[in-house]
Amino acid sequence: MTNIRHFLDLDLIETDVLRKILDRAVTLKAESSSQDRLSGKSVALVFEKPSTRTRVSFELAILQLGGHAVVLDQGDTQLGRGETVGDTARVLSEYVDAIMLRTSEAKNLIEMSQAANVPVINGLTNSSHPCQIMADVMTFEANKGPINGKTVAWSGDGNNVAASWIHAAVKFDFELRLASPRPLQNSTELISWANNNGGKVLVSEDPKLAVNGADCVVTDTWISMGDNNGKERLRLLEPYRIDKELMSAAKPDAIFMHCLPAHRGNEVDSEVIDGPQSVVWEEAGNRLPVQKSILMWCLGTDV
Ligand code: CP
Ligand code: NVA
Repeated sequence: MTNIRHFLDLDLIETDVLRKILDRAVTLKAESSSQDRLSGKSVALVFEKPSTRTRVSFELAILQLGGHAVVLDQGDTQLGRGETVGDTARVLSEYVDAIMLRTSEAKNLIEMSQAANVPVINGLTNSSHPCQIMADVMTFEANKGPINGKTVAWSGDGNNVAASWIHAAVKFDFELRLASPRPLQNSTELISWANNNGGKVLVSEDPKLAVNGADCVVTDTWISMGDNNGKERLRLLEPYRIDKELMSAAKPDAIFMHCLPAHRGNEVDSEVIDGPQSVVWEEAGNRLPVQKSILMWCLGTDV
């Protein structure tokens, strides 16, 4: 056990720490300049999968805090030629103050965090996407007030992003209703963990049941990076599209969120994602102050 502040998953971090990270993200967003908070610090951003938002927001976050980012894109490192994750972690720890990793298997992230002497941040795995959901909770609260006691509905694939929503439902105490076709539902272990830890997480195959009266409706792509059974997924997920009719089952003032990238006509119709209830651009924008606040926590700046 070390005192290194890794940001690996929301279920592994105390609620009061997550709350402080969010509160500080709100403050950082309101400031015109946040220079020098991480002056002289450097962060390696390691991508084994593509990224637009995570890459740009982390790179600018550290830059705007006075530090420096080294971006290692897919295929740029010796990881792709068989150097182990552990050895990569030990080497990067000699150079930088923190490592953000986007990878496929969650075990790579664990291996990185066990071998690194510096904080490791989860920039998405096949199993979770915690930085995204921090920005989502921030966006929810900016539009609808405190999330505790509210209802969030998910209709679509029970994927990595849904898994971090499940962690968040426990940590931030809101009701989460997920609708996914049975073969694509989040694992029963994860749902049981949530409900055994005070969560109110309901899973069904019925999108209307999930969305009914919700404060927020969320979805994500039907085909995540690395998924290869595309045709079958499209067939199974067809009834889960968020269209105007499904959105109208939520509260009249409900918001729509999507972590992006979006596929109009698949998981969401243009009328919804480009309509008045959508907050997806604000949600993407909030990745920046959230990444700043996560970096500050990892690097030991208060909280
Ligand atoms: N939402 C998100 O993480 O986007 P990127 O894959 O572009 O980083
Ligand atoms: N579920 C998606 C999220 C992308 C940000 C994926 O893993 O590809």
